[in-house]
Amino acid sequence: MTNLFSYAGKRVVLTGGATGIGAALAELLDELGVEHLTILDIKAPSGRCDTFIETNLADPASIDAAIAQIEGPIDVLFSNAGVAANAGVRTCMAVNVAASRRLTDGLIDRITKGGTIVYTASMAGNGWPAQVAEITELLEIADWDAFLDWCEAHPEVVNDVYAFSKMCMQVYVMRRSYSSIRNGIRINSICPAPVDTPLMADFKVSMGEDAINWAVGVQGNGRMAVATDIAPSLAFMGSDAAAFINGENLHVDSGLSSAMVTGLAFS
Ligand SMILES: NC(=O)c1ccc[n+]([C@@H]2O[C@H](COP(=O)([O-])OP(=O)(O)OC[C@H]3O[C@@H](n4cnc5c(N)ncnc54)[C@H](O)[C@@H]3O)[C@@H](O)[C@H]2O)c1
Repeated sequence: MTNLFSYAGKRVVLTGGATGIGAALAELLDELGVEHLTILDIKAPSGRCDTFIETNLADPASIDAAIAQIEGPIDVLFSNAGVAANAGVRTCMAVNVAASRRLTDGLIDRITKGGTIVYTASMAGNGWPAQVAEITELLEIADWDAFLDWCEAHPEVVNDVYAFSKMCMQVYVMRRSYSSIRNGIRINSICPAPVDTPLMADFKVSMGEDAINWAVGVQGNGRMAVATDIAPSLAFMGSDAAAFINGENLHVDSGLSSAMVTGLAFS
């Protein structure tokens, strides 16, 4: 019987595979039989990786050079790399949004029919409905520099830049998936709650420890997620088991988003 969760015969590209969620995903894809794994990262990965392309996702020339080096067809693109707000507005919006979009546009023609793109967004982007008009206006700016200039020129919109970057990704998934599925390619994201990875030190500085502790407390399971709690949902979204899922931002947050939407988190 076919194993819908298997990665046997699949060629995968992963950004941000050196540490945290991406490193856990690389290990899991290895266990799931991935045929070929290419990792794009600013740091070299230490786990499973067949081709490493050193890439600075804040630099469009570096992204284009990586796109040119990636060989063969691609079954799954995981656009996972991300930075926190203390990287600054330009870098945060470049790595978290503009790079994901540039990779998508640069690689989508090489993604096989039935293939898929999965982003690591965040439940920090759940507030998108209040800013959907501005986000839509921004996402219509195709040029890299003009996109980042818009972000710098609208501090009233982009004031919480990490959350805004993830709002943009949730909206991007819903919009981009509409056209991609017509070419047989699914587009989705997963949206974790706080995860204990190297990025957490930056979140504690930019969001404050109280906010992180509050979010973990609302989950009710008594602990913060670790990378191996999150990687399986990425692997699922990229697998054939998710073949009918498209345009979805999947919360992987132990109920935090539900508790916030219903108000139970504040009761
Ligand atoms: N940790 C959390 O609490 C949390 C929660 C929700 C979503 N996320 C998202 O999960 C994703 C993975 O983050 P993580 O928590 O595993 O953190 P992490 O810092 O462990 O991993 C980020 C990876 O991205 C790479 N990277 C950073 N800047 C880069 C650049 N300019 N060019 C190329 N690679 C770069 C890093 O080297 C690293 O391998 C991010 O998109 C993050 O926003 C994290």
